[in-house]
Amino acid sequence: MRNFGVSNHTPGQIELLKRSLNQPLVVNQVQLSITHSPLFAAGIAANMAGLDQSIDRDNGLLDYSRLNDMTLQAWSPFQKAFFDGVFLGDRENFAELNDVLDELAAAYGVTPTGIAVAWITRHPANIQVVLGTTTPSRVVESAAGSEIPLTREEWYRLFTAAGHTVP
Ligand SMILES: NC(=O)c1ccc[n+]([C@@H]2O[C@H](COP(=O)([O-])OP(=O)(O)OC[C@H]3O[C@@H](n4cnc5c(N)ncnc54)[C@H](OP(=O)(O)O)[C@@H]3O)[C@@H](O)[C@H]2O)c1
Repeated sequence: MRNFGVSNHTPGQIELLKRSLNQPLVVNQVQLSITHSPLFAAGIAANMAGLDQSIDRDNGLLDYSRLNDMTLQAWSPFQKAFFDGVFLGDRENFAELNDVLDELAAAYGVTPTGIAVAWITRHPANIQVVLGTTTPSRVVESAAGSEIPLTREEWYRLFTAAGHTVP
């Protein structure tokens, strides 16, 4: 049997769809990168009045997915926002993030692309990364990064260097 999933669905939409299905929904593909991460960012800043980051834009999708054994897949893993180009090497808008990416890449012997992938795969939700590159070497770099066990400190350094808040 082939696996069946959805994309950009909220927990409520998934529950509604499940009422009409007789097979499990195993994946949900959502936009996620270090710079576009409401999936993580809202929960990290939960309950903070006046902080845009604390707005829950997906009705608790991260926790719902983990509690219901649905695998999240990250689309646009290197995009700044919605098809705005990649943050990798964009020193005009993401200088601090690129500094940290370069530093960690050197420390782990991979490329910044690999560290950007590691930031997603390091999360305990076991998120899969949907690459959009047509450049074979970037696929190799990404695969190498998926094996990197970033420390929690490194993970949060990348998160805050991208402009997010850790209250
Ligand atoms: N489910 C959904 O709603 C949804 C929405 C959008 C996308 N997707 C899926 O997600 C996949 C990935 O999306 P995406 O293409 O936006 O993701 P991405 O992997 O973040 O971006 C890849 C694009 O950025 C370019 N790029 C430029 N510099 C790069 C660098 N240093 N490192 C890596 N890439 C660089 C790539 O060009 P080169 O090819 O020249 O490397 C490619 O055009 C798509 O192919 C699609 O299957 C799903």
